Amino acid sequence: MGVGVLGAGHYAPDNIVTNKELEKIVDTTDEWIRTRTGIEERRLAKEDEDSSDMAYEASKKALKDAGVEASELDMIIVATVTPDTPFPSVACMIQEKLGAKNAAAMDVGAACAGFMYAMITAQQFLETGSYKRILIVGVDKLSKIIDWNDRSTCVLLGDGAGAAVMGEVSEGRGILSFELGSDGSKGKELYQNEHGFMSMNGREVFKFAVRQMPNSSENVIEKAGLKKDDVDFLVPHQANIRIMEAARERIGIPEEKMAKSIHKYGNNSSASIPMALSESLSQGKIQDDDVIVLVGFGGGLTWGAVTIRWGK
Ligand code: ACO
Repeated sequence: MGVGVLGAGHYAPDNIVTNKELEKIVDTTDEWIRTRTGIEERRLAKEDEDSSDMAYEASKKALKDAGVEASELDMIIVATVTPDTPFPSVACMIQEKLGAKNAAAMDVGAACAGFMYAMITAQQFLETGSYKRILIVGVDKLSKIIDWNDRSTCVLLGDGAGAAVMGEVSEGRGILSFELGSDGSKGKELYQNEHGFMSMNGREVFKFAVRQMPNSSENVIEKAGLKKDDVDFLVPHQANIRIMEAARERIGIPEEKMAKSIHKYGNNSSASIPMALSESLSQGKIQDDDVIVLVGFGGGLTWGAVTIRWGK
């Protein structure tokens, strides 16, 4: 038996904020943001739309796509660094909204690598046979922690949610390998500061990520007993197009074989990988039996990658 993804969904708020609009708020230019990051616009949630609302919308779509009823879920794991409140967890909030009354629920926090942590945690419960169906969600409302006076961070971020239902898939399909890691000594390179805002040493994070994303991708490919040539599609964390390109170039796959949504959503932290995955699926870019690599890094510092042979 394999353990894999049965269905996926994502949600992006309606409100689009372009780089040009940000020019009016901070000392920046559309040209600087595009060339340094690849971002053209981002979505920002409404004041009364919190992480649990976005997580709920993405989860409904993932359940529908998987053909799974909420009541069939054994567990809900939500990756987020911007929960509505520290407790109850976002997972508990959507458990109630979805009517998933048989599910255990918890949040995990590993910033932009959070979805990788949620997926591998779910895999353990599923592989042991303890649980049959687990909903995993990556959601962040980063606009809650954006310092609109800090041009080096505010232009990068956006809000959104992505979800996947995980369960048993046929032999040979599903998760083939994974890597998770952390380096707490670099916590202050990217963190929520004493004022509640996201604070980042952009250059240091860039240096770390541009090494980590390609390395982790290569590691999981090797762990799966595959070669780089075997990879059909790459879903990297959407933090900066230059970092994404470093991973793509190391694997050596063409541009159209990499998920890219950063231009319209910016960096959505925990939500970025599942949003990019769900969107790529809906665009028909991933087929059954394709080998795909998901890879991310984030505050902590944390990182994670998986290789999946796609399909149920
Ligand atoms: N507009 C115009 N100029 C800017 C802006 C802006 N929005 N932000 C910074 N600058 C300036 C800087 O002040 C600096 O000016 P100086 O040379 O006079 O000091 C200049 O641009 C160049 O700054 P750098 O930091 O060298 O720019 P760099 O090419 O490294 O790009 C960036 C900055 C995009 C932040 C890059 O370092 C990066 O992507 N880092 C990684 C960020 C990331 O991936 N974070 C992920 C985590 S986010 C999360 O976890 C939610």
